[in-house]
Amino acid sequence: MDRFNVAVDVVQNAGDLLRQCRLEESEICQKMGHQDLVTHWDRRVERMLRSAILETFPQDSIVGEEYPPEECRAGAVTWYIDPIDGTTNFINQHQNYAISVGCWEGSLPLFGLVLDVERKTLYWARHGGGAWQNQTLIHTSGRRELSELLLTTPGLQYTFLEPHPYQERMIRLSRKVRGVRCLGSVALELCEVAAGRADLFVTMRSSPWDHNAARIILEEAGGATFTVDGDELPLGQKSTVLALNDMELKDCILCV
Ligand code: IPD
Ligand code: CA
Ligand code: CA
Repeated sequence: MDRFNVAVDVVQNAGDLLRQCRLEESEICQKMGHQDLVTHWDRRVERMLRSAILETFPQDSIVGEEYPPEECRAGAVTWYIDPIDGTTNFINQHQNYAISVGCWEGSLPLFGLVLDVERKTLYWARHGGGAWQNQTLIHTSGRRELSELLLTTPGLQYTFLEPHPYQERMIRLSRKVRGVRCLGSVALELCEVAAGRADLFVTMRSSPWDHNAARIILEEAGGATFTVDGDELPLGQKSTVLALNDMELKDCILCV
């Protein structure tokens, strides 16, 4: 089996598990505070993903949210995994959360998978093979007028409320676009842009496991990703993210 098939199998199995689980209050823990939660199920799914990957590809490295990175491996392939992206949604809504798995060989994207668990919708892309929502080829929107764009951002807190150097620009941008939406999952929001249901995405805070799978899907769908300064998005460190339906929008957004 190749890496892509191993990933699809384990992601679908993990999705079945999460759809059936009943979350108990005692299974929820705070990490850095009451807005930063983890559950027994995040950890269980991450262990499930890690063991399926390492069983077949023991040389590969894994960067996941809930466990420290594996010791440095000989191989050049790194997996970025988020067992539940949108844990708060998982806890409060039991919907709008995803399993996110991105696989890279050095700086070359191999494939990305984002499973919208409750909708049983798999977004996926292999490098050079286009982007897909289940069996349907997807593409970003053709909207280029600022006043027609739908902006998505994962939450008010980090984008608008906490002080950061781009705060004024974010407020100006949100006044100029058609509307702002917050779904609460970086991976699913990037897939919204990939599928043309949103036109741009901004976050001031994202980790490699949040965006490294969905960025492959978005780029295969015709979109582009940067930091909010317009620089190349780093692969292995936390950063801001600006994602666009097309490279053409870049200058216009950076000049707002
Ligand atoms: C979080 C979600 C959330 C975003 C946070 C992420 P998690 O991931 O994507 O929407 O605002 O920055 O950390 O903790 O649910 O995996
Ligand atoms: Ca996440
Ligand atoms: Ca997570």
